[in-house]
Amino acid sequence: MQVRKMTCTIGAEIFGVSLGDASRDAGLAEAIKEQLLEHKVLFFHDQNITRAEHAAFARYFGDLEDHPVAGSDPDHPGLVQIYRNDKRENYENNYHTDGQWRETPAMGAVLRCIECPPVGGDTIWVNMVEAYKNLPQEIKDKIDGLKVKCSIEHSFGAVMPEEKRRELGRNNPMVEHPVVRTHPETGEKILYVSSFSTHFANYHTPENVRFGLDKTPGASMLLNYLISQASIPEYQVRFRWKPNSVAMWDNRCTQHYAVQDYWPAPRKMERAAIVGDRPF
Ligand code: SIN
Repeated sequence: MQVRKMTCTIGAEIFGVSLGDASRDAGLAEAIKEQLLEHKVLFFHDQNITRAEHAAFARYFGDLEDHPVAGSDPDHPGLVQIYRNDKRENYENNYHTDGQWRETPAMGAVLRCIECPPVGGDTIWVNMVEAYKNLPQEIKDKIDGLKVKCSIEHSFGAVMPEEKRRELGRNNPMVEHPVVRTHPETGEKILYVSSFSTHFANYHTPENVRFGLDKTPGASMLLNYLISQASIPEYQVRFRWKPNSVAMWDNRCTQHYAVQDYWPAPRKMERAAIVGDRPF
């Protein structure tokens, strides 16, 4: 296996590996996991693998999860189809960590390109360990112990008719996560707010709030400031897709953004998201 770093902070290309082989070889999958923990997102080229191999490789790291809005391949449950055809859809271009609206968000994902536009449709990943590390100390002190509420209803649900949106919310009630989570395997501290985060759960205390204005708009300004850290280029890597390119990311410590500049060209991706633990 050859490894080539793509930036100083995040991402590496992996050469000399077939993910089809890795789906049948625990030792190889383990070696890939080691690289994932180090680089946070890995890129593989020319992976002409079957859907069964794609799902089996991802399943080596844990169970796969379906998505309540995006459908899965009927023959391969857990292989979510992210297909954009000639209809303009505008809900994907926002920095996010997958499934932050779940009690146990995905630990990672393996995304394969089936079809991509001739130009455009790149994906950006962000190192949220770096984002936390570089926060000013006074902000780190302020967010220590803060919890954030996260919801799918206001994101994926926003484009739905009202009754469907509310049903999505009833089936996926809002959850609460630490604003700073700890990586369960590396121990790194991670800034854990994204476009799924709606408000702080426990900001309104006498230390934080002298007058109402310290909470409204004070708390939302702080949340927006934290969310905006994902857009700092120094924490990012940007990947240009080709059919059969694969990206695998550690979803606990990264965010991503699918650049939506290619419409009306089609773009078809298939994603196996791996069930994770409750953030702490
Ligand atoms: C995702 O948001 O999980 C998919 C990213 C992409 O389609 O590039």
